[in-house]
Amino acid sequence: MVRYRLTDIETVREEGVWLFTGRVGGGEEREIIVVPCEDDSADSDVEAWENRCTHEDQRLYREDVGAVVRDGSVVCPKHGSAFDSCSGGCDNGPAAGSTLPSVDVAAEDGQVYLTDDNVSYIHAGPSDDDDDDEPGSTSHLRF
Ligand code: FES
Repeated sequence: MVRYRLTDIETVREEGVWLFTGRVGGGEEREIIVVPCEDDSADSDVEAWENRCTHEDQRLYREDVGAVVRDGSVVCPKHGSAFDSCSGGCDNGPAAGSTLPSVDVAAEDGQVYLTDDNVSYIHAGPSDDDDDDEPGSTSHLRF
């Protein structure tokens, strides 16, 4: 398996969410978030998910405002559904019953690696593709 070093675990923990852009299945660019998983029963110290809410086409992490991480979950800025950082699952709000598409990552010796054979790394940070969230989709929630 080819693996690509993304960043280190400390950076993910400090920033709460670490964003990169990859290509999934040789197709479109996708933004992917790497998040710390603090659950002791989890297999890994970090997990990675596509940066799209399952309810509507809404980034969970946006470059201008970052992401809202609360109680081990990433919160959608549009309608407030919270996705568990370790499982990607959501049991609340309009996205209840769904799970974020996962991307395989692994933590080893303090480093975080992309290990997903279906995803290739393009660059750190947001996608350059101009498929921005719909106009007026600025955060409707205040935290
Ligand atoms: S767009 Fe995320 S909960 Fe509605």
